[in-house]
Amino acid sequence: MPYAHITGWGMAVPEAVLTNDDLSKIVDTNDAWIRERTGIRERRVARENEFPSTLGVEASFKALQVANVRPTDLDLIICTTSSPEYIFPATACLIQDQLGATKAGAFDLLAACTGFIFAMNMAAQAIRSGSIKTALVVGSETLSRFIDWKDRTTCILFGDGAGAFVLQASDKPGGVLSAVMHSDGSGGDSLSLPGGGSRFPATEATVHEGKHYIQMDGKEVFRFATRVMASATQEAVDAAGLTLDQIRWIVPHQANIRIIDAAARGLKLPMERFVVNIDRYGNTSTASIPIAMVEAVEKGQIQAGDKLVMVGFGAGLTWGALAAEWTGPIPSKGHIRPEQYRLFGRLRSLVRRTIRFIEGLLYRREL
Ligand code: ACO
Repeated sequence: MPYAHITGWGMAVPEAVLTNDDLSKIVDTNDAWIRERTGIRERRVARENEFPSTLGVEASFKALQVANVRPTDLDLIICTTSSPEYIFPATACLIQDQLGATKAGAFDLLAACTGFIFAMNMAAQAIRSGSIKTALVVGSETLSRFIDWKDRTTCILFGDGAGAFVLQASDKPGGVLSAVMHSDGSGGDSLSLPGGGSRFPATEATVHEGKHYIQMDGKEVFRFATRVMASATQEAVDAAGLTLDQIRWIVPHQANIRIIDAAARGLKLPMERFVVNIDRYGNTSTASIPIAMVEAVEKGQIQAGDKLVMVGFGAGLTWGALAAEWTGPIPSKGHIRPEQYRLFGRLRSLVRRTIRFIEGLLYRREL
């Protein structure tokens, strides 16, 4: 049975920074409160021309570069996002098109902030089963578009960004070692975005009622998160046949520093073993774990051979954890420049659209 190795990684965040002081000019809040209660100092906010697909594509090209893999070699693209560009088509298909990933099946996976764990597990299982060889998993968000900037209990928390991993099959042991996935839909009300779906399709009334904004019972989510982070981590470690002292790094969903601190206390581990960058990005939902991982790898914290656990929670309610051995790129011949496929992707997309347009004209004439 092949192993699923994480062989490429990349991240992309908008340039625009929104500090706590900036927020204090919009709502009744202040830097000291936000830092003390959440650990967040600033977050990135997408500009008008930035979307989950554009941020996701930037992160993906970087991940493909590290893995030395062509977009045309990808068999599968899973995009996990809590702020999809449309209900359909899937954001994954927009990314597939812009990458020029001609061979890949692409779909979105929605499990809110736990999405990256679930998507990594699905991609790894597809590789382990032998049905595919190479997958791209993207977590990408512009949650700033669903925030009520008058609501100080939510607008301080979220930020925009994207992270992407390439997974490849290898006979060498390592890569994804285990994963646990959990859900409890009875808690769906505590964190939701009710408007724009088929229960509350967008109308003047839904907009007036603010149903298109994130709605959250912060205390309830906080209690839930502090309950599940440590237990899910321990479950993934047990499922991998490891013990906690063999785990070098825990990479938690970056939602609130106090939640991470509670997980550390629950596991009786020092905070130094946790990868934390919430201060600079806030909660980027599905992108928070890969962004934290990419920064830790680039800083030289996470190194080949390290065993680690990624753990997350989110709306649904959902929660889960994934244990992995970090290996890095698989040595391969030649030096691929995935960036060159950017133009190929655009040209291919243009040609496909033109063909579809001409076919439409011919078909109309035949009728
Ligand atoms: N600035 C200043 N004061 C504030 C702010 C603010 N931004 N927000 C709330 N307060 C006030 C409240 O009104 C309250 O005042 P009161 O005592 O006079 O009534 C006081 O501060 C305390 O409020 P709490 O709600 O008790 O604050 P708490 O310490 O619980 O922090 C927070 C709130 C940060 C939202 C916390 O509950 C939390 O992080 N919850 C988890 C949220 C989360 O992780 N969500 C994402 C899940 S992932 C996903 O799927 C998207």
